Amino acid sequence: MRLAGRMREIEPFLAVEVAERAAELERQGTDVVNLGYGEPDFEAPPVVREALEKALKDGRARYAHSLGILPLREAIADHYRATYGVAVAAEQILVTPGTSPAMLLLFGHLLDPGDEVVLSNPYYACYPNFIRYAEGVPVEVDTTEDDGFQYRPEAIAARLTPRCRAIMINSPANPTGMVLSADRMAAIARLAEAQGACVVSDEIYHGLTEGERDRSILELTDRAFVLNGFSKAFAMTGWRLGYVIAPRAHARALQTLFGNFFISTNEFVQWAGVAALREAADEPARFGRVFAERRRAMVAGLRAIGLGVGCEPRGAFYVLANARRFTQDSTRFAFEILEGCHVAVTPGAAFGSNAEGYLRFSYTASLERIEEGLRRLGAFLAGR
Ligand SMILES: Cc1ncc(COP(=O)(O)O)c(C=O)c1O
Repeated sequence: MRLAGRMREIEPFLAVEVAERAAELERQGTDVVNLGYGEPDFEAPPVVREALEKALKDGRARYAHSLGILPLREAIADHYRATYGVAVAAEQILVTPGTSPAMLLLFGHLLDPGDEVVLSNPYYACYPNFIRYAEGVPVEVDTTEDDGFQYRPEAIAARLTPRCRAIMINSPANPTGMVLSADRMAAIARLAEAQGACVVSDEIYHGLTEGERDRSILELTDRAFVLNGFSKAFAMTGWRLGYVIAPRAHARALQTLFGNFFISTNEFVQWAGVAALREAADEPARFGRVFAERRRAMVAGLRAIGLGVGCEPRGAFYVLANARRFTQDSTRFAFEILEGCHVAVTPGAAFGSNAEGYLRFSYTASLERIEEGLRRLGAFLAGR
């Protein structure tokens, strides 16, 4: 049977492929140090787990409102008001089972075939796939290690065409840990406004940055869609809870898409989200302090075994380490590392051509496991 043409454009998610092979090795009894997945090793906060159990006991397991339950949308609106000083109405928020479905709907909502979305290269691996699935065209802006992987408005301006519908930003960024300054974010917002386009801001790594307040795009422009969720900040990856904040004029159309395709997000999980925002709001900062300590150990350890870390990440929980001394084929190398010394890392190639020859290390494992992984990897590299 013939597949739709757009399916040829979709690339495998290499982080998942490595993780699934790692899981297979573990099932066979091998101890694998997992530095591959972008998944905190913490449990979700206790109040969140209790809220889920209570919601289930109370029978909150039916179809819910297609925008998401009002208490959760109000809690998200209050969170954006308290954290960023921006006014967001509950009607502008669509709750989804993770940030990923919100992305799927958003690009389908924004793009006609051939419309362009500007994004940095390296990028979060799935962005181009979402854009292509909506028959849009990802337009890449090079960012390089020498320049601290900075996403520069001048470089974005040079890539804008009349087909541009959106400029994608992700600060703090996966996989580089780059953080956009407020000035640069404002310049990007002005570029989008001048172009009649919008900014799509993926704010999923907000709240974890040590010693810094993250900036939301909504502080700088209304022509923006915010993507966010509970996976990273509240260690709730498997719970599948995210949201999109849309300009008022767009919320209804997104709700229509969501109602058709997903009906509603699990209600009991949404009550857990209310508890996260209302009762565990300090947890992301605590996680962030733990991550900062692990980051320092990871960066020092990677350098000590001969991998390059030209610029230290400032946010999220990844280090994109330069392995070009060892390989030009990061995918093959990541699988060799996994089979050879049982350390799971993500090949840079997953994140675009500028990350080829790099490996992404997640510092979401404990300090002991990070040290063990680096010890194994150091011995493996020394033997090559
Ligand atoms: C930048 C970025 N956006 C979105 C996601 C997807 O998150 P969710 O679990 O909410 O679907 C990830 C997951 O790794 C990510 O790194």
